[in-house]
Amino acid sequence: MKTLTVALPGREYDILIQRGLLAQAGERVRAVLPQASKLAAVTDSNVEPLYRKPLLDSLTAAGFEARLFVVPAGEKSKNAAQLSRLWEGFMDFGLTRTDGVVALGGGVVGDLAGFAAATVLRGVGFVQIPTTLLAQVDSSVGGKVAIDLNAGKNLAGAFYQPRLVLMDPNVLNTLNLPQFMEGMAEVVKYGCIWDAGFFEFLTARPSRPELMADIEHILYTCCDIKRQVVTEDELDTGLRMILNFGHTLGHAYELAGHYTQWSHGEAVAAGMCAAARLGVSLGVTPADVPGKIEDALASLGLPTSIPCDAATYAAAVGRDKKGTGADVTAILLDKIGRAVPYKMPKAQLVRLLGSFHKIP
Ligand code: GLY
Repeated sequence: MKTLTVALPGREYDILIQRGLLAQAGERVRAVLPQASKLAAVTDSNVEPLYRKPLLDSLTAAGFEARLFVVPAGEKSKNAAQLSRLWEGFMDFGLTRTDGVVALGGGVVGDLAGFAAATVLRGVGFVQIPTTLLAQVDSSVGGKVAIDLNAGKNLAGAFYQPRLVLMDPNVLNTLNLPQFMEGMAEVVKYGCIWDAGFFEFLTARPSRPELMADIEHILYTCCDIKRQVVTEDELDTGLRMILNFGHTLGHAYELAGHYTQWSHGEAVAAGMCAAARLGVSLGVTPADVPGKIEDALASLGLPTSIPCDAATYAAAVGRDKKGTGADVTAILLDKIGRAVPYKMPKAQLVRLLGSFHKIP
């Protein structure tokens, strides 16, 4: 088993990575929530038929009384109505402050269940069991939990670290190819921002079977980078912003596609390519970098550019949570393997995006 420890003072927790780990969920949760008798397990309608039984069997065998809460699959469930449904359901179940919430699913389930765990009874123990590659390498680690508001995604939330993150690579086998490759966009991001050797390692493995053959190493490397970043900047006021590489522009593409045409990972893939081109035009990024990133992402079947008009860029840049007043911090690369925050006026960013992007 591979183990990483996120060493936040007073809120330290482990990330465990091992094939077959889902079957050990009960004993692993028992180790971090020794006083708990009830567990509210939150999942979605896609994951429930696949992994309900192994999770509940394992929790029950470890002596927990577990109740499953199922939300409809999809981003639409990350809302105040589902959050309220969970709060009321947890109370009906009789959850107390020594009990816990377990999230079994992708980013939507983790974010929603995590926010419910952070707020019910002013906070109960929380365990993440991510079932998508995207959630395993990104959203399950680092404690960002949230719901969406009409004004945008993740606008109501908290920093609430889990007590444990359990990663069973075997659950990735039930993802379809686009779901798997969506997660690979975030995996490639870690190579771009932190580890050129890892970027090369990935480019030598452009197919799902090749990637799955080394999946423990891939998960470990991504989570180790995220662990280091989050340990230094839990509250996202400095270094953590580098995890946003490709995301501001990715949000523009998600918006341009009305959140249905492009998945988050696809939008981030195109966003990283655009950020690399932006870096070249600002004299920060070497000229050969965009092509290398485009080749890596294209070989995984991910988009390297997405049409977007100036108004949509402006809307996405304007609502970026990393922005302050008239400025935005763009995350650029000064080489593959190193990200640099670059503060600039929002208006300049939008103008530059227009200059190297064909605006319909
Ligand atoms: N997903 C970016 C972060 O956790 O900061």
